[in-house]
Amino acid sequence: MSNDGVNAGRRRFLVAATSVVGAAGAVGAAVPFVGSWFPSAKAKAAGAPVKVNISKIEPGQQMIAEWRGQPVFIVRRTEETLANLEKLADVVADPTSEASVQPSYVDPRVRSIKPEILILVGLCTHLGCSPSFRPEVAPADLGPDWLGGYFCPCHGSKYDLAGRVYKAQPAPLNLPVPPHMYETDNVVIIGVDQESA
Ligand code: FES
Repeated sequence: MSNDGVNAGRRRFLVAATSVVGAAGAVGAAVPFVGSWFPSAKAKAAGAPVKVNISKIEPGQQMIAEWRGQPVFIVRRTEETLANLEKLADVVADPTSEASVQPSYVDPRVRSIKPEILILVGLCTHLGCSPSFRPEVAPADLGPDWLGGYFCPCHGSKYDLAGRVYKAQPAPLNLPVPPHMYETDNVVIIGVDQESA
């Protein structure tokens, strides 16, 4: 009787040990799959929408977020800047962005959902350098007619503060406006389209 008890005990132990080995084996077998999941998980994260709190951007200032490995410029424009955009309609090549990339829910004149908040993919449409934010009016190096905008350091393309490229520049198109939507007044999600109204 006592032997039976011991054997039964051993059997339980063996069963338990086998289960553990089995589990360890399963983990071992899963490792290669985990390895192969990594790139797609990373790729998914790289392409995922990005939530940005814009409450700290002062009028006239820019912050730079990152989406899909690209810089995204977010600017809080002033009333003066918005008024200046109208003055530049004859200076820029595509004032209503007919040939440029922007979502349909963006106002084509100011290229934003809310007039004061400009959101652009910060890569020059010539060869992809990141243009410098130059919001000041008439700085010495950009001349008396400069009303604020972006200047590409690579080959000198100029854009206004709606990302519209000036005429006769190396860059052919306006800076793209990425898909985006507002979660709240101060939180914008880049990479997701606003639901159509
Ligand atoms: S990359 Fe900007 S002007 Fe060439």
